[in-house]
Amino acid sequence: MTLHPQTVEQFLKSCGTVPPGGLGPFTSLLSHIGIIGKSLARDLRVAGLIDVLGTTGQTNVQGETVKKLDEIANEIFVRVLRQSGVVRALVSEEMEKPVVLSAAGEGSPYLVLFDPLDGSSNTDVNMPLGSIFSVVLPGNGEGRVADADLMRRGVDQVAAGYLLFGSSTMLVVAAGNGVHGFTLDPWLGEYLLTHQNIKIPSKGTVYGANEGNYNKWPPGMRKYFDQLKLVDKAKRRPYSGRYSGCLVADVHRILLVGGIYLYPGETEKPEGKLRLLYEANPLALIVEQAGGAASTGTNRILDIEPVALHQRVPLIIGSRGDVQEAEQCLQGKSSA
Ligand code: AHG
Ligand code: MN
Ligand code: MN
Repeated sequence: MTLHPQTVEQFLKSCGTVPPGGLGPFTSLLSHIGIIGKSLARDLRVAGLIDVLGTTGQTNVQGETVKKLDEIANEIFVRVLRQSGVVRALVSEEMEKPVVLSAAGEGSPYLVLFDPLDGSSNTDVNMPLGSIFSVVLPGNGEGRVADADLMRRGVDQVAAGYLLFGSSTMLVVAAGNGVHGFTLDPWLGEYLLTHQNIKIPSKGTVYGANEGNYNKWPPGMRKYFDQLKLVDKAKRRPYSGRYSGCLVADVHRILLVGGIYLYPGETEKPEGKLRLLYEANPLALIVEQAGGAASTGTNRILDIEPVALHQRVPLIIGSRGDVQEAEQCLQGKSSA
């Protein structure tokens, strides 16, 4: 008989440590996020056949065009997290205001902040997509959820993860106990442990960025890119450029093979594009727990004190050595 790898539930039990919020509630949370992943993966597999491609004609709170699949993914997230019974309130990229799912005192421990569909420009071209989630516990225990409970620094996250819809569907999670990746076996309907205790190399040879924006970047950032492309055998340059337009997919590559992903601020738009609470923070927690780093160029992402639910932030994330070089170049301290 072939023994198959552990399911998420078996793995959590076997760890022997109590996950944030307790073993029962945390297992339930991950199993419901797993259901979201299965449901979305099913829709994405047949997206061209079921009239879910294209846009809704609306713009979201970020002023961005909403794809039909953004809306569908958001509805799935809200419905399934509500059913889970363990989520008190949620924040979504696609909704201006938080949604409170259960009253204080009902024993639902988690606040979940998420990007229901990441890389949605990829929907119409059959390219990878993702979903990102951040988990915090309310600061005031069982009391009413206030905005301050949801706007927490990245270091206050008790768990974070992403779903990646690539050639296979994966769930990658960090909950204070290493970073672990599970691959969906669609025939068993289970996520099985395939990537235990992921560690990011301290230096890589891959960069991911939308270089179409090169001339909008500050001089230090342009200089860093110029140097990554120089031929320099000792420094293993030039780096390979890899960019899919889906943050989850691009960071997943870097997490496994090392290197650097950048979505810098621009001279005219210093806050950058990506959102702090449900894109940068959860990915920063995952990458840091795997041994990497995440920075704005001047500050650690996880230390930022949020001022708004949907605030944006520049993001430089990946191998520790690469992130440090980019920071130094951006700050004019070295030539990388
Ligand atoms: P979202 O689809 O959730 O709005 O996120 C899109 C993000 C991210 O996935 C990706 O890295 C980046 O935007 C791509 O932006 P560009 O098209 O500017 O490269
Ligand atoms: Mn996104
Ligand atoms: Mn999105």
